[in-house]
Amino acid sequence: ESIYVGVDLGGTTIKVGICNAEGQLLHTYEGPTQTDQGVDTVLGNIEKYVRLIVEQSSYSWEQLQGVGAGIAGFLNVRDGVVVLAPNIGFRDVPIQAILEERLGKPVKIDNDANVAALGEAWAGAGKGVEHCVCFTLGTGVGGGIIMNGKIYQGFSGMAGEVGHISVVPDLEAIQCGCGKMGCLETVSSATGIIRMANDAVERGDRTSLAAVDKIAAKDVFDAAKSGDEVSLRIIGRAAFYLGKALATTAALLNPEMYIVGGGVSKAGDILFDELRQVFAKLTPEPLQRGMSIVPATLGNDAGIVGAAGLILRS
Ligand code: BGC
Ligand code: NA
Ligand code: ZN
Repeated sequence: ESIYVGVDLGGTTIKVGICNAEGQLLHTYEGPTQTDQGVDTVLGNIEKYVRLIVEQSSYSWEQLQGVGAGIAGFLNVRDGVVVLAPNIGFRDVPIQAILEERLGKPVKIDNDANVAALGEAWAGAGKGVEHCVCFTLGTGVGGGIIMNGKIYQGFSGMAGEVGHISVVPDLEAIQCGCGKMGCLETVSSATGIIRMANDAVERGDRTSLAAVDKIAAKDVFDAAKSGDEVSLRIIGRAAFYLGKALATTAALLNPEMYIVGGGVSKAGDILFDELRQVFAKLTPEPLQRGMSIVPATLGNDAGIVGAAGLILRS
């Protein structure tokens, strides 16, 4: 029996999983990315986790057909190079060649959000939908554009970098990891939400968050659900700019569905209600017809399964 390993390389954790030829996820494992330790450590961690998960399974290394990796960053998919991945600390890393050398197996890469979008379009919220756009709100904000049932790659494979759509007006804009100002990612990612929360506490705003030791995005959601005004305002801001980006891309792409996933989507109705309202306000009515904004359904596994699919389908 053949097996395929999918890797989800994120800014905080590396998730790996074994899939069979039917795309069923059989085993998963995850460990820290350790971006602070440098590029070699991160590459070493990927190798380590891939070897470990196969070792721990009932399968042999010989059964492994290849490794697919979804990576958070600007990739040149054709050449297998990570051009810029601020959240992982990679710049011009020929990761495909390096991992093929280290593992002795075929390796394929694609953007993490593209891969997750494929997963959602195949087996998740977008099943049967030919034109959809997936936004993933995690450490960063990623996107995947599915047009005619396929990932739209663009000229060099960087289409769908929705986290870097500039939405925040100059006076309020801060610099993004990509080097530019006012990107969606600076406000609608978990990182952005945590930053806004810490700013509020430092400013001395009256908020229940002041009692929290190290604020996580979930603390902000919980506080908002209990009526904390500051937390509600922060999530409102994240939803507002996300709504602006959705409206912008709707005019450009005319998708049937927006799928919103990632840790921040766990905020639930307080995020989605505001998001749908902003979108309705900013998008021409004809474009809204038959269109929906829905939460992702595959959760954390979409990336791993989609990544294994890079090998499975090739
Ligand atoms: C990167 C994207 C990635 C997203 C989510 C962004 O900062 O530019 O490539 O998809 O984070 O991880
Ligand atoms: Na993408
Ligand atoms: Zn940016």
